[in-house]
Amino acid sequence: MREQLNNIKLEAEKKLNEAGSLAELESIRLQYLGKKGELTAVLRGMGQLTPEERPLTGQLANEIRSFIESMLEEKTKILQEKDRQARLGKETIDVTMPGRRRFLGKKHPLSIVLDEIKEVFIGLGYEIAEGPEVELDYYNFEALNIPAGHPARDTQDTFFINGDILLRSQTSPVQIRVMEKKKPPIKIICPGRVYRSDAVDATHSPIFHQVEGLVVDRGVTMGDLTGTLQLFARRLFGENTRIRLRPHHFQFTEPSAEVDVSCWACGGKGCRICKDAGWIEILGAGMVHPNVLKYGGIDPKEYSGFAFGLGVERVAMCKFNIDDMRLLYENDMRFLRQF
Ligand code: DAH
Repeated sequence: MREQLNNIKLEAEKKLNEAGSLAELESIRLQYLGKKGELTAVLRGMGQLTPEERPLTGQLANEIRSFIESMLEEKTKILQEKDRQARLGKETIDVTMPGRRRFLGKKHPLSIVLDEIKEVFIGLGYEIAEGPEVELDYYNFEALNIPAGHPARDTQDTFFINGDILLRSQTSPVQIRVMEKKKPPIKIICPGRVYRSDAVDATHSPIFHQVEGLVVDRGVTMGDLTGTLQLFARRLFGENTRIRLRPHHFQFTEPSAEVDVSCWACGGKGCRICKDAGWIEILGAGMVHPNVLKYGGIDPKEYSGFAFGLGVERVAMCKFNIDDMRLLYENDMRFLRQF
C-alpha cells in the first residue's frame, strides 16, 4: 500500500507540473482528491491493514494529500496570473488613437433672443409670468375688450377645442390672469408660445412665440412706456438705436401704437434689410384700456398701465437677417450652427 501511495504522489506531481490550464487542475483534483479519487480510495482501504501498519500508512497518506493540495493551490495562483496577463495583453489601449470629438450643441436663435429680452427686463425689475397655452375664450378675447362677433377677432383666428376653449392666439390673456391674482404695482413680462390658424410660409407659422409686457401702477404714463421701449431697443439692437411710435389700434390699449426701431444695419438711411424704409416694426404697445383694467379687477380711476407685445421670431429674423421663418423650425444643424 505504501508503494501505491508513493506512486500516486509521483504521478500526481508530474501531472500537476504539466498542467497548463485551470480546467486541467480541476480534473487532477477530482482524479486524486475527489470522492471517487485515487487517494480517497486508498484511504478507504486502510481498514484492511494491520494495526501496526495503519498509523504509518495513514500519516503517509495525509502527507501526500497535503502535498497535492498545496501544489494545487500554488499552480492555481500561477495559472490565474498567467490568465490575467494574457487578458491584459489583449486589452491594451492605444493611447495614440485620435479621440472622438464631442459634438457641442448651440443655443437656438429664438432662445438667444428670448434670453436677451428676459435679461433686459429682469434688470429693470420685471418678473416673469406664465399662463396656459390652452386658454379660455374669456381671457384670450372677452376680457381683452374683444367681445364675441367683434371684427378684431378675425385677424387672430385660432384653433378651437370647443366654443369656450382655444389655443391662445396671443400672450395678452396673461395680463388679465396676472391682474386677477396680483394687486399693483405690477411689472411682468410673459414669454410664451401662441397659435393661429395661418398657413406656413416664409413669414407665417401656426405656432410662434411672443413676449408680453405689463406695467400697472399709480400714475403710469405714455412717457414711461416710451422710455422703457427706448431702453429695451438700445439694449437689444445697439446703443444708437432710436424708436418711433406710429398710431395704431388695439382693442386692449388706448391709445395704441406700433413701434419701429431704426434699422441697425444702415442706421436709418435705408438698405436691403429695412427694405429702404430706415425703420423696422418690432412690436405693438399702448396704455392699458380702462375696460381691461376693470376685467382684471383694478380700478382705472386709481391706476393706469402700459402693455406691449412682440413677436420673438420677427425680432430674431431681423436681428440675424434670416429671410425665411421656416428655417427656425427645421432643426437643420447647418443653419443653427451659424448663431
Ligand atoms: N397681442 C397683440 C398681438 O398679438 C400684440 C400686442 C399689442 C400686445 C399691443 C400688447 C399691446 O400688450 O399693448 O398682435
